[in-house]
Amino acid sequence: MALTGIDAVVYGVANMEKSRRHFTDWGLRETSSSADTAVFATEDGCEVVLRPRTDKTLPKAIQRGSTVREIVWGATSKADLRRIERELARDRRVTVDDDGVIHSTDDLGLGIAFRKTVRRRVRNRRQPMNSLAAPDRVDARATYHERARPSHIGHCVFMAPDIGKMEAFYTERLGFHVSDYYTGRGVFLRAAPRGGHHNLFYLESADGRPAINHVAFGVQDVHELFAGGTYFQNRGHKVQVGPGRHHISSCYFWYFDCPAGGATEYFCDEDFLTEDWMPGHWDPAPETFAEWMLADGLKRPKAQPPTREKRDMKLRQKPRVRERADAA
Ligand SMILES: [Fe+2]
Repeated sequence: MALTGIDAVVYGVANMEKSRRHFTDWGLRETSSSADTAVFATEDGCEVVLRPRTDKTLPKAIQRGSTVREIVWGATSKADLRRIERELARDRRVTVDDDGVIHSTDDLGLGIAFRKTVRRRVRNRRQPMNSLAAPDRVDARATYHERARPSHIGHCVFMAPDIGKMEAFYTERLGFHVSDYYTGRGVFLRAAPRGGHHNLFYLESADGRPAINHVAFGVQDVHELFAGGTYFQNRGHKVQVGPGRHHISSCYFWYFDCPAGGATEYFCDEDFLTEDWMPGHWDPAPETFAEWMLADGLKRPKAQPPTREKRDMKLRQKPRVRERADAA
């Protein structure tokens, strides 16, 4: 099954306005909106869809309150979509909507859908970095970002009562690959053999109930991650944890509470895996979760009136701060 990754995440939410503000401040582009639907896009065309949680057209919720109701997976061909439809129809209800999108449910009870991917290739905006042996940015100041503009949706994380069942469903029925294990507690899965470290992570649920944990959005580099998180925090959104750096997947992270359900995460620099990758087994422990992390985010210094010396220096140097063209 040639799945490319997450194409869209559909939420059913209690408060449309708060959720809309969350994803606007997060740095997504609102592509359409009405009283009962808002659609946002990442740089590569991945979508976040918001609908009121009382909307009867939404798939059944896995928990009370605001949460993810459906994950839409991208496929490369119509033949793959037909294969997925036949495979799922063996033991569960499958419907195909007017746009040809296949809808069903996974073994957590979550809505899953499949469509020909709408994601586009994105240009590389990662800025060159300098070291003594490799000065890759020469006679050029670094770029400073005002905020983040996420490139894609990398992964979704759920609490699950039976992680073995989820691993079996996604690997045996849909051709996913195991990337790593939290021994006895969790499994990291990716849709395609070549790609980012994981698209799904199931963590054993302490109370035996399914729940969304977070949805993760990729940014280009640590500069965009720190700027995006700081901007978002300064807009009044609550930090859950971060910034920090994970051991598993090696990525930098920053998590925030999300009124649409669970949390949202900025991440960058995750491991890129191929068919040659061997899954590891990690002991679930705080020191495995992160190499380092901050609990309460970062603070941007408040603007101070410049001293005479600083003002003179500024006039002499005339620093030029380059902004990304789309950062407005
Ligand atoms: Fe994550």
